[in-house]
Amino acid sequence: MFSPGPTPVPERVLLAMAQPLIHHRDPAFEEIFQEVREGLKYVFQTEQDVLVFASSGTGAMEGVVVNTLSPGDNVLVVRGGKFGERWGEICEAYGIEVTPIDVPWGEAVDPEMVSRALDGDPSIKAVLVQACETSTGVIHPIEELAEIVRGRDGTILVVDAISALGTYDLPMDRWGLDVVVGGSQKALMLPPGLSFVALSEKAWGFVERSTLPKYYFDFKKERESQRKNQSQFTPAISLVVGLREALRMIREEGLESVFARHQKLARATREAVKALGLELLASSPSPSVTAIKVPPGIDGKKLKSAFEERFGLIVAGGQAQLKGKIIRIAHMGYFQPTDVLQAIGALEMLLKEMGYPVEMGKGVKVAEEILSS
Ligand SMILES: Cc1ncc(COP(=O)(O)O)c(C=O)c1O
Repeated sequence: MFSPGPTPVPERVLLAMAQPLIHHRDPAFEEIFQEVREGLKYVFQTEQDVLVFASSGTGAMEGVVVNTLSPGDNVLVVRGGKFGERWGEICEAYGIEVTPIDVPWGEAVDPEMVSRALDGDPSIKAVLVQACETSTGVIHPIEELAEIVRGRDGTILVVDAISALGTYDLPMDRWGLDVVVGGSQKALMLPPGLSFVALSEKAWGFVERSTLPKYYFDFKKERESQRKNQSQFTPAISLVVGLREALRMIREEGLESVFARHQKLARATREAVKALGLELLASSPSPSVTAIKVPPGIDGKKLKSAFEERFGLIVAGGQAQLKGKIIRIAHMGYFQPTDVLQAIGALEMLLKEMGYPVEMGKGVKVAEEILSS
């Protein structure tokens, strides 16, 4: 599974989830949930509560909008891919006025553009952005954006870190990020179905003033329950049990080592691809997923399906305007060096079969050298 979500689930996590179900009002569950809440704080690098929801990541994104904003509010949305567009769509669905900062797909936002837009309209309530824009494999400059937003009392920085959390250092408290959103099916090594949200003190102030309607995603009520190691509604019990195991694995490896592993896997993938004469899409490539431009003369859709048909490997193609133009190889979560070698080896063989001139083994060799360094 080389798709940027869902990602491979470790055997330890699968086995934990296969245990007989326990009841969510049982003290045994509360104990598990307590450990999970602590583990999530470690991964988010925050002292704040990290709320857990039974939903996909988009549910938590919607929850952030309805809990921090009010009808008629004006927000800045960084739109450099499919998930940036999603922030805009959610806001518009709730009557929020969206000022888009459009960024060419494959590029990261220039923080100056955000700074100028905020200077031009001090009424802007939030800047919504992705840490990793999964559709293009780009990482946006979150630390710089946080510096720009930090000094403005009336504005919060909302970071969709669904495909970034646990792949590189994104310290919520140290950088002063106001809202961070995560999802289970990425570097947290679980199946889809859980989403996570943490809010700064400043963002909780916005929650106090928000007048948009909310029910399932009511952050204040949910925080009250979760502080008692319960949840307002029936939680996804098995996924929470699996999450405890995944968080234990992350703690055992240590966040720094987890980040270093991702950096190495990403660098090996990128350098291997370049050695084959291919181009990367992203100007500032993410440690979670590598987006590769399909070379001229090669059918991108066929290349993607050939990975599965010939080798049983699932990679992702491009979305929307990038359909058929890129393939994306993920290295997010439960990945080891040999996984990269497998993906690059398959890429070499498929390109050769499809008539693209590749020197067999060239990419694999470059990757091996990086991975064994
Ligand atoms: C950056 C980013 N944001 C949002 C989402 C949406 O999450 P979900 O599909 O879990 O709703 C994804 C999923 O791929 C993502 O990668």
